Amino acid sequence: MTERVLAPFGRRRCEVVANRASGGYRIVSALDREGPEPRPGQFYMLATDRWGGPGGRPYLPRAFSVAEVERAGEGVRLDFLLEAVGPGTEALAALREGEALAITGPLGRPFSALGELAPTAAGAILVGGGIGIAPLALLRRELAARGVAQRVLLGFRDRRHAGGLELFACSPAGSPGGRAPRMSSEVRTASEDGHTGHQGYVTDLLAVLLEGDEAAGAAVYACGPPAMLEAVRGLCAAGEVPAELAMEAPMACGFGSCFGCAVPLRGGGYLRLCVDGPVVGADRIETALVAGSGH
Ligand SMILES: Cc1cc2nc3c(=O)[nH]c(=O)nc-3n(C[C@H](O)[C@H](O)[C@H](O)COP(=O)(O)OP(=O)(O)OC[C@H]3O[C@@H](n4cnc5c(N)ncnc54)[C@H](O)[C@@H]3O)c2cc1C
Ligand code: FES
Repeated sequence: MTERVLAPFGRRRCEVVANRASGGYRIVSALDREGPEPRPGQFYMLATDRWGGPGGRPYLPRAFSVAEVERAGEGVRLDFLLEAVGPGTEALAALREGEALAITGPLGRPFSALGELAPTAAGAILVGGGIGIAPLALLRRELAARGVAQRVLLGFRDRRHAGGLELFACSPAGSPGGRAPRMSSEVRTASEDGHTGHQGYVTDLLAVLLEGDEAAGAAVYACGPPAMLEAVRGLCAAGEVPAELAMEAPMACGFGSCFGCAVPLRGGGYLRLCVDGPVVGADRIETALVAGSGH
């Protein structure tokens, strides 16, 4: 099993080094001078100094997947892709350069290496939906560095609920030269409103791939809304394709003590998504339609 990177004890303060719009989302970057480099699929509990504003909300930190990591001279730059859907994400989206971001992490279990998930697989298929594309950006880069053949399928509801594509570019956004990042050739998109790629669900693209010859030699890594993950789980189960799903559940603590993130296991019992996940083998759960998850 791929080892998780353990978080240093306690919460630490990082400096926000960038906050930019990316379609309907934002990419918030912070410099972590003390923490280790996270693995793809791990997450952080985030908060700002504006936490507990009028009415006391948000009260608790919020969970976010790390979308990109870069070693910077004095530490590690962490990029978070976020969608403002409530008081916590709105406060994070409003952060300015030089302000403080409070982080705890990296937390949770990362995605497994391809050889562990599917020892005979020749390649990986990454399937992301909406803001759930975040952890797949770092995973894609890591798989590419290891020479793993891959296809990336990214789906969005509509133009307003889409963004972060530059995280999947061959050269990262903001690279020297200032040119627009070139999208990597293995990335295909889908959208329900047809504004990008195939008009329909991203799982339509997955179904086509799994009907072809690629199914026999592939493994699937997915993150997105519960209905998408459930469709991925069903397609992979039917095709006997090994798969891992990065799931979400409401998280109060993020480190195993509140049981707010419990998800039922196939055959009985529960796992705590914050410590036993968020990346879970698709064959371990009965359904990805978890109560309280998804926006
Ligand atoms: C492991 C993990 C990784 C995540 N990664 C990202 C990420 O990379 N980018 C990102 O934008 N968001 C991510 N989320 C979701 C993010 O934590 C929630 O959007 C955030 O907590 C909402 O807080 P809020 O105060 O803005 O809104 P709230 O008022 O708390 O919630 C707004 C709406 O979002 C729903 N919601 C709240 N928390 C969650 C949750 N944990 N999962 C699903 N729906 C929720 C609520 O039901 C409500 O409808 C992740 C969640 C988890 C558990
Ligand atoms: S969030 Fe508290 S146990 Fe998982």
